[in-house]
Amino acid sequence: MRILDLKPETLDRVEAVIPKYPVKRSAILPVLHYLQADLGYISRDTMEWVAEKLELEPINVYEIVTFYPFFREQPTARRIVRVCRTLPCALSGAYKICQKLQTELGCTLEEPSEDGEVAVEFAECLAGCGTGPVVMVDDEFYENVDESKAEAIAAKIKGDKVANSTETSS
Ligand code: FES
Repeated sequence: MRILDLKPETLDRVEAVIPKYPVKRSAILPVLHYLQADLGYISRDTMEWVAEKLELEPINVYEIVTFYPFFREQPTARRIVRVCRTLPCALSGAYKICQKLQTELGCTLEEPSEDGEVAVEFAECLAGCGTGPVVMVDDEFYENVDESKAEAIAAKIKGDKVANSTETSS
């Protein structure tokens, strides 16, 4: 079995979720989510590790990773801001909000912020269609995001960064 540099709690989550499914292969989505949350992205090595773990061929894992836009094959920023751009959110102003978040956070859809802290990307429906624009910051869900809420979201992300760097240096 290949070795991945996983946190022990990630490995525990993976081991705990597999037996919840009638066949190992059915655990592929939660397993990939746990690994991406820990490693930041799904590399080819990670795909092969998952394939071995779930008794699949690597191509089966690759197909899943490339099908779902949520999964990333390259490292990106530490924090990910997703803005839903599906029609209901688009009609309620998602594109303007996305632009506002990029400006506030100093990044573009193509490039994360210079310090590698945050990236903004579009996502497809995030299941809050009646309360758009919808934004997700990592696992946090924000609804009815207007310009002032977007400013508050950006301020919180910046504040979290300062708090983390203070914790690390003390
Ligand atoms: S359309 Fe945006 S959450 Fe569904």
